[in-house]
Amino acid sequence: MPARETLLRCPVCASSAAPESSEFECSCGELYDVEHAFGPLDRALFDSRPRSLRAPGDSGVWRYRELVDPDLDPAAVVSLCEGNTPLYDAPDLARFAGLAAVGIKHEGLNPTGSFKDRGMTAAVSRARAAGARHAICASTGNTAASMAAFAARAGMAATVVVPDGAVAWGKLSQALAYGAHVLMVRGDFDAAMGLVREEARAGRVALLNSANPFRVEGQKTIVLEVLQQLAWDAPDWIVFPAGNLGNCAAFGKALREALALGLIERVPRLAAVQAAGAAPFATAYDNGFERYEPVVADTLATAIRIGAPVSYARGVRSLKETRGVALAVTDDEILAAKVAVDRAGLGAEPASCAALAGARRLVRDGRMAPTERVVCVLTGNLLKDPDTTRAFHEGRLAGHPAPPERIRTIDADQRALRMALEGV
Ligand SMILES: Cc1ncc(COP(=O)(O)O)c(C=O)c1O
Ligand SMILES: [Zn+2]
Repeated sequence: MPARETLLRCPVCASSAAPESSEFECSCGELYDVEHAFGPLDRALFDSRPRSLRAPGDSGVWRYRELVDPDLDPAAVVSLCEGNTPLYDAPDLARFAGLAAVGIKHEGLNPTGSFKDRGMTAAVSRARAAGARHAICASTGNTAASMAAFAARAGMAATVVVPDGAVAWGKLSQALAYGAHVLMVRGDFDAAMGLVREEARAGRVALLNSANPFRVEGQKTIVLEVLQQLAWDAPDWIVFPAGNLGNCAAFGKALREALALGLIERVPRLAAVQAAGAAPFATAYDNGFERYEPVVADTLATAIRIGAPVSYARGVRSLKETRGVALAVTDDEILAAKVAVDRAGLGAEPASCAALAGARRLVRDGRMAPTERVVCVLTGNLLKDPDTTRAFHEGRLAGHPAPPERIRTIDADQRALRMALEGV
């Protein structure tokens, strides 16, 4: 037997568990982190690794395998060629936010259209290697779509548990198409989360939410890829939407490890942006993390309509270690940012646009300098939530006037076309 190198470790009481454990929670109540015994690693390893045309080297997650899951047999990887997403320079969006420049990391260009694919490849690979046959998750939609795809790829059954009536249909239709069983819970996301965690504890199903620490390991690569795209010259800020705080946990861990390994010389500040109607983390930040109260969440950005984030403690640690901030933006601010993101030709679902809205708010409040180097993460694709986009453009979104009429029906004749073209 080779020496075991990967462990699950409790960040609070330091007790450990085997990586095959189906229990992701320490007896003290805290979620386990994955702990690796890294060998010597440097930038040259990743820079010398040309993007391969073949799996698993073609994946923007497994390119960093020494940092994600060094013990996993490469033959056990379940991949859809995730990651490798662009970091756009976006002058229009910089102007919108009041910044000199901004980098846009578009995670909506992953195989199932959201960043979730990065964590899912890592966690499904581990689950299948441990013999799991049935994957389960609670979801606001994107986790469901991603898990269903990776479970299909792995030959596993999939059940997704979602809040009834509060998930964008683009996402649910993906889960159905990939073959998942969809359970609509009469309750919110937080209720669904409680149900699946309890069920996973019984050991009959493999939990694929970000309480699963291998999800966090995969999601670290969003930050690793940004750093590599910037030639390891870390930006001043990384700004991202925050719901269950899986990304907040993952980004902090990625930066902690990258600094310890000497991949970077300094750590960017993290900015976790919540929707005002679903902002327990931002509220706790405002009181110095002395009090934390879950809320009943409500926002048009359904992906982050989460009132009791599972990775709260890990999120706090990430902000403390990076001089990070948490803030809330209104649905109006999110929508204004979405119009800008969409019109810039990049496009994203509403929740994603909270990142740019957050950067704009930080600049307006004087907490972010216009000359600072900022990367905003767009977490999900425009096509995920066509209903909101359509409702906005048809003037059906409460409180939002319709933009100039750009959708019309015309007769099939030349004159009608010519008339329509006038004034465009
Ligand atoms: C598009 C999108 N953005 C952001 C988030 C929030 O991510 P986290 O739960 O890691 O905070 C989600 C979660 O479902 C999401 O789907
Ligand atoms: Zn513990």
